[in-house]
Amino acid sequence: MTSVAKAGLVVVGTLAALAIGGVVFVGSGIYNIGADDHHTKIVLAIIEQLRERSIGVRARTIDAPDVEDPKRIAAGAEHYAALCVGCHLAPGVTKSDIRPGLYPHPPNLAQEDSRDAQRAFWTIKHGIKMSAMPAWGKSLDDAAIWDIVAFVRKMPVMTPEAYRQLSHGRSG
Ligand code: HEC
Repeated sequence: MTSVAKAGLVVVGTLAALAIGGVVFVGSGIYNIGADDHHTKIVLAIIEQLRERSIGVRARTIDAPDVEDPKRIAAGAEHYAALCVGCHLAPGVTKSDIRPGLYPHPPNLAQEDSRDAQRAFWTIKHGIKMSAMPAWGKSLDDAAIWDIVAFVRKMPVMTPEAYRQLSHGRSG
């Protein structure tokens, strides 16, 4: 047998062993799917990179409308108070019953910098697989999602009082 053929056999053998190992791992039930058991550092790093690249590549071709329009920001605040605050908090809303049990942990959007409007739009419209982040594009049109984006970008500099007024007291 030539050395090339030998190397080929080693590669095929290794791949077969990995495939069998994967089937045994899945079939054994040894993996804990519970949301109260966290990923290892390496798995977390891979998932984070996968999410960053996936969203980054898809978001960059989106055309953003004027997200500074106060009417948009006000309309977005109402949607946000109705749909998002339980998971993502808001100015003056610092905890909720659903947040502690969510994994991956939803970012606190009252503090997080969401100024990249295209990324926020893509994430809100399409959601994130294997996390609790829903694809809001299934129930909201693009205009409503841009309203929400306009509002979310302003949250880190918004006072609790301004949020209460914009959301008409539906503060969470
Ligand atoms: C049931 C909980 C839940 C609800 C409701 C929810 N989200 Fe999320 N959201 C999440 C989770 C969990 C993540 C993080 C996912 C991850 O890290 O992979 C997330 C991520 C995000 C991100 C990405 C933030 C970043 O770091 O890039 C944005 C923006 C966002 N959500 C906005 C919203 C908006 C706006 C709404 C309401 C229209 C909403 N979410 C409703 C759970 C939720």
